[in-house]
Amino acid sequence: MTGTDPLRLAILISGRGSNMSAIARACAEGRINARVDLVLSERASAAGLDAARALGIDARTVAWPGAAEREQFERSLDAALAAACPDIIVLAGFMRILSQQFVEARAGRILNIHPSLLPRYRGLHTHRRALEARDRIHGASVHFVTAELDGGPVILQSRVAVRTADTEDTLSARVQATEHIIYPRVIGWLADGRLAWREGRPWLDGKALDAPVVEDFP
Ligand code: GAR
Repeated sequence: MTGTDPLRLAILISGRGSNMSAIARACAEGRINARVDLVLSERASAAGLDAARALGIDARTVAWPGAAEREQFERSLDAALAAACPDIIVLAGFMRILSQQFVEARAGRILNIHPSLLPRYRGLHTHRRALEARDRIHGASVHFVTAELDGGPVILQSRVAVRTADTEDTLSARVQATEHIIYPRVIGWLADGRLAWREGRPWLDGKALDAPVVEDFP
């Protein structure tokens, strides 16, 4: 730990919230110098909201009024976020697309995790697509969010070997287990000042990060 104030996080989820829980545990156990102040979901039924509450975290719903009303949604989101004043907004299985305006107003302050080795398989059904393509290596990517969907600079990737017997379920379970390691790690780098956003790009340990850091998992 650095002795500095913890990095304040707001986490946006749409579902189970296993990444949110992994990050919250890393904070609570002092493995990273960060604090989850707020969890928001656009789905009141998201299981991760209850998981967050069980961890003592303020967890709320921001209702999704429909794609045509995205501006209204983002105003409500902004109001909920403003009250918590987070340093970083962490998208963890948040399945809505944020507008260019929302993202650009927070450049370098929004992270996302995506279940593929970006730039491969932006969008949905990444595990199925990796199996269909008979990829031998698959994985997950933590990246800064830009206006381009799943297109922001990648910071850290986990690489997982695809097994011949893999199904979408077994592969996604193995990839998700690695997500729970790499996402807290990146947040820890930010909290320790090792990772920064400057001049419109990520920097790690004082050097521009031109390619992601890659970690191999079995
Ligand atoms: C995670 O596997 C994450 O990579 C994926 O959703 C899952 C959420 O799980 N995100 C995306 O597909 C974003 N495009 P969780 O709710 O248990 O963290």
